[in-house]
Amino acid sequence: MKDLKYFLDKALKNHFALGAFNFSGLETLQGITLACREMNSPAIIAVSESALNYMNDYVIALANTAKKQFNGLYLHLDHGKSFEICKKAVDLGFDSVMIDGSALKIEDNIKLTKSVCNYAHKKGVLVEGELGQIKGIEEDISRQKDIYTDPHRAFQFVDETSLDLLAISIGTSHGAYKYNGEQTLRFDILKEIEKSLKNFPLVLHGASTINENLINIINDNGGDIQNANGIPENLLKMAVKDHNIVKINTDSDLRLAMTSATRQCLNNNKSIIDPREYLGKGRDKVKEIVEYKIKNILLSQNQF
Ligand code: G3H
Ligand code: 13P
Ligand code: ZN
Repeated sequence: MKDLKYFLDKALKNHFALGAFNFSGLETLQGITLACREMNSPAIIAVSESALNYMNDYVIALANTAKKQFNGLYLHLDHGKSFEICKKAVDLGFDSVMIDGSALKIEDNIKLTKSVCNYAHKKGVLVEGELGQIKGIEEDISRQKDIYTDPHRAFQFVDETSLDLLAISIGTSHGAYKYNGEQTLRFDILKEIEKSLKNFPLVLHGASTINENLINIINDNGGDIQNANGIPENLLKMAVKDHNIVKINTDSDLRLAMTSATRQCLNNNKSIIDPREYLGKGRDKVKEIVEYKIKNILLSQNQF
């Protein structure tokens, strides 16, 4: 069976990206799985620390079932903040873990990331690290300002940690409120990082596009989401096609898909009490959004 490393290498060579789709429940995972299977697209199913706490022991059973439905899926720990949580994920059988030491001084980030690499690599688990800081809401921390990845430090960071994937900060942002001003990305910094790292797999977090249509459905059905915006689709596609971005993280867009479809269904059918009816609509919408991304942003269709 082909492992995650195989597809990351293939993505780097052939200029597509693996979607890293966050889930915290059955229907979102089903939507992702159905879409990837239908598109014949490898992908990462990602669980944050808080989603791991929310689903607890169900995570492995759910992920293993999804992998049986389509074996191009790989389970990943998103934004692990400590050695202990990464060790837990490695021991549970995750395919990859992210150790997020981005809030630490670089020396401490290197030390922490290196310790996770030492442990995970012995067990054949890949490690993603982060350098620079991404804006927005992550777990319960809110960051107002980007600290872009320093291209020169990026070389030192990769060299000294032996990590497999590097998450960079070039203007993407977590959550549904990404920009106050111009919706852009710092491709100049990306190019500098690529010059200093030479053909190394890079990751974009905070890459939801925040579809206006979904926001309107939420607001038309009792919700109140104002001034939301996301990363323009063409910039993400450019990052995949013309650069070394091989993993693109998406959570907020799937939340919007699930929330818009369930709100609309409940609002249109006031007598519904069977959760399968509205959560099923959420699942369908997640599938549609994931398929769209595979075709139009990730370019990973038929890469399995
Ligand atoms: O990057 C953060 C993800 O969107 C996870 O958020 O901790 O609310 O699951 P969460
Ligand atoms: P979004 O909030 O843009 O979906 O980003 C998700 C993410 O980066 C998860 O790690
Ligand atoms: Zn993230």
